[in-house]
Amino acid sequence: MQFDLLTTDPASQARAGKLTTDHGVIETPIFMPVGTVASVKGVHQRELRQDINPDIILGNTYHLYLRPGTGTLQKAGGLHKFMNWERPILTDSGGFQVYSLSGRRKINEQGVKFKSHVDGSTHLFTPENVMEIQRQIGADIIMAFDECTPYPCDYRYAKRSMHMTHRWLDRCITHFEKTPALYGYEQALFPIIQGSTYKDLRTQSAEYIANSNAFGNAIGGLSVGEPAEEMYAMTEVVTAVLPEEKPRYLMGVGTPINILENIALGIDMFDCVMPTRNARNGMLFTAHGTINIKNLKWAEDFSPIDEMGITWVDTEYSKAYLRHLFKCHELLGMQIATIHNLGFYMWLVREARTQILAGTFVTWKEMMVKQMDKRL
Ligand code: GUN
Repeated sequence: MQFDLLTTDPASQARAGKLTTDHGVIETPIFMPVGTVASVKGVHQRELRQDINPDIILGNTYHLYLRPGTGTLQKAGGLHKFMNWERPILTDSGGFQVYSLSGRRKINEQGVKFKSHVDGSTHLFTPENVMEIQRQIGADIIMAFDECTPYPCDYRYAKRSMHMTHRWLDRCITHFEKTPALYGYEQALFPIIQGSTYKDLRTQSAEYIANSNAFGNAIGGLSVGEPAEEMYAMTEVVTAVLPEEKPRYLMGVGTPINILENIALGIDMFDCVMPTRNARNGMLFTAHGTINIKNLKWAEDFSPIDEMGITWVDTEYSKAYLRHLFKCHELLGMQIATIHNLGFYMWLVREARTQILAGTFVTWKEMMVKQMDKRL
């Protein structure tokens, strides 16, 4: 695996790069559509490949471990083969989902004991078994096991939790290095910075994570309800510490505006359920603001969904027709909205990259942020 930093914007910290994996090249900055249970909800792999065309998608250890289970994934030859997706995949470690989804859970030094949200059965995640599970799933980039603190979080808890995440990282690295990749291609382990919204903790965590000398570094514990300004402040604190020459991944972020602002602060990789989840509720993201397609105002608007959109659904269907599908709870409505939103997110990060390479990123970003900050 290799990361080449191609350009750093002279007017901001924005970067354009190229991450080469055994499953193909990822051009950064990149947005990774979320495919939690080996499916980007509502989208065929063929549509994903041909119409949305992301360089990489994301899967979740927590969900894939519970269903279909690692035994099935191993028999299939890994997640890529199982879901017929031949491009890169990143899996999150469960360090977020175990807190947000599972029922009762107990965190201690050993790991997290939790109840499955599927059938209530009890399971234990430790840094060691989470490395093993991610070897069996077989994503190209795998994440360290961490604790994602909630917001707000008191200082003492955030500090204790951050130190435990660091100790868990050491155990992850030891175990990762002891276990071979199972399917003949390379996997890279990304550690995760925590520290809630405390600058001193964030700096300390970024130093610890940078010292682990991993292939790439991630920032967790953000986009958990804090104001955007606090998120940007934390990104700024940690990017000042992280090595320039390695990819930086901001987990779970965010709105189109959050993404552009964090690209300006030096982030290379993003993932978020927002374009897919909000699509299923009838919310469309466009370059001119957001649309709630269920609103009455679209009932007889026969103009295309998005005249500037890059996917075929944008001009194939009208706003009035899409609204009608949502009002009738037709599955097709959710599928159209999902393809539109993912197409828009892909366009946004690609255009950001083009602007960075052309040296015009900041002017473009400021115009876009103004334009997108509207409800249509
Ligand atoms: N996804 C969004 N935030 C986080 C985080 O802090 N940790 C993990 N593992 N995944 C996340």
